[in-house]
Amino acid sequence: MNRITVSAPGKLMLLGEHAVVYNHPCLVTAVDQRMRATVEVLNENIFELDAPDVKITDYKKSIDQVGSGDIPKGAKFVEVAVKNFADKYPLFTSIKGGLKISTVSEFSSQFGFGSSSASTVCVVKALSEISQSNLSDEEIFKIAYKTVLDIQGKGSGFDVAAAVYGGVLYFVTGGAKIEKLDIKNLPLVVGYSGVKANTVTLMNQVKEKFADNADRLAEIYSLIDRLVESAKKEFLAGAWDRAGQLMNENQKLLVELGVSIRKLDDMISAATGAGAYGAKLSGAGGGDCMIAFSSDEKRADVEDAIRDAGGEVIKVAPNAEGVRIEK
Ligand code: MEV
Repeated sequence: MNRITVSAPGKLMLLGEHAVVYNHPCLVTAVDQRMRATVEVLNENIFELDAPDVKITDYKKSIDQVGSGDIPKGAKFVEVAVKNFADKYPLFTSIKGGLKISTVSEFSSQFGFGSSSASTVCVVKALSEISQSNLSDEEIFKIAYKTVLDIQGKGSGFDVAAAVYGGVLYFVTGGAKIEKLDIKNLPLVVGYSGVKANTVTLMNQVKEKFADNADRLAEIYSLIDRLVESAKKEFLAGAWDRAGQLMNENQKLLVELGVSIRKLDDMISAATGAGAYGAKLSGAGGGDCMIAFSSDEKRADVEDAIRDAGGEVIKVAPNAEGVRIEK
């Protein structure tokens, strides 16, 4: 096989962000906006990358330089994924020559849907197929998560898990537990704040804010842990009103962590004011998206309220399929 296209879903954090970085659980859903990667074997010993969504075009280097030297920001995840894969599996004994990789996203990299993790997962899966290494989902998760850690230094890996496995997941740091929940649908409404956030900056900001108050930080994380455990039960029971109340509690703790911003606060209170079961920010905070749970009857009102508060409603279906071969 000389050419393959693979796709993986984006994600939205439902409950448990920040705490999940420090050995606590979270709930995450894969969403039906996907990242696609095409990997092609070349005769020449070169590595080529085309990733217009992250401003990488006409990027070329010698194949033995992959993963070393100055790597532009937009090329990092794909390039380090190739290097990590080749370090562990016999990539260059199965393919003779070079590689051309192209990535295209169905969603903006601004939304915080996890485009970097999804493209990393696509590349690892594509290399597994092209080199006939037949990696299991767990092995794909491990290589992709290592890649994210090599680049970001920290992160729970929940976004990598959503891209690999899809569905709605109960996830513990580093993949210590990954459990797919048997849930058909989530009554999810998503609002984009229009503000771009940086996950690593936000994680460091929390650490600094609580530098002299480590006890309270640990307490907040265990409170979030308990909310996630309760929410898991409510999700499985389809008790969305009670799950919504747990989202509201989670949001209060995120406010105390200092990661909410005025725009998100406004969108969240607009959603609950319009009758949503509950609402909170989703992800690192500082911008990106908020989410709400709403009944079908109230959905239009909740969406209008989010727009009135200056947000953009993004139509995404939760519970999307994990990484898959397209052709
Ligand atoms: C970012 O989307 C969510 C965090 O919990 C980081 C992570 O889990 O890797 C803040």
